[in-house]
Amino acid sequence: MAGTKAPEDAYTAAPFVPKTPTGLAPLREAAAHCRGCPLHHAATQTVFGAGSAQARLMLVGEQPGDQEDRQGEPFVGPAGKLLDRALADAEMDPADAYVTNAVKHFKFTRAEPRKRRIHKAPTLREAAACAPWLAAELAIVEPELIVVLGATAGKALLGSSFKVTEARGTLLEREIHGRPERLLPTVHPSSVLRADDREAAYRGLVADLRTAARALS
Ligand code: URA
Repeated sequence: MAGTKAPEDAYTAAPFVPKTPTGLAPLREAAAHCRGCPLHHAATQTVFGAGSAQARLMLVGEQPGDQEDRQGEPFVGPAGKLLDRALADAEMDPADAYVTNAVKHFKFTRAEPRKRRIHKAPTLREAAACAPWLAAELAIVEPELIVVLGATAGKALLGSSFKVTEARGTLLEREIHGRPERLLPTVHPSSVLRADDREAAYRGLVADLRTAARALS
């Protein structure tokens, strides 16, 4: 019926995902037209993953932020800068990683019209709707290790009972979207920026990334 909204559990990106993509480029092109959930209405654009299909490491965040939404690239804002620094301190090269998000559109609220856009966490349903994109990226990149950044990515990949405080720093082996994967959960870089003790939170992130580096070596 015209004007009737689909129920949240009917949201899915599946019809927009090419059935047999030959690489990341056709996926990225198709994702630009995704209308699988309502987040595309307010966002500027789809922010698809970035990096090489040959990357051994995949980093999965939550969703693009304000800067990422404007620039169309994941992790180019303050959280991304911190992540790059932490990767370098863990002796990992960000250029060797494929970086993406569980949710490909920026979700935000505004306190008042024309005021700053304020990040709003995606719901589990929105992350589930977007999961076919992540599954397709995993099938193309076939990473040797997935670094799971924070709770939204953790719940999207490891289930709704995932708790970053319990799982962080531990190398996990799970079947994800039909493939055996190795995963290393850690905190989201934004949580480091918000932490009361930023130095300690940053050291914890770097320690987890060092574990990831060892798992790859
Ligand atoms: N936070 C995320 O989870 N992803 C981004 O791309 C930027 C900020």
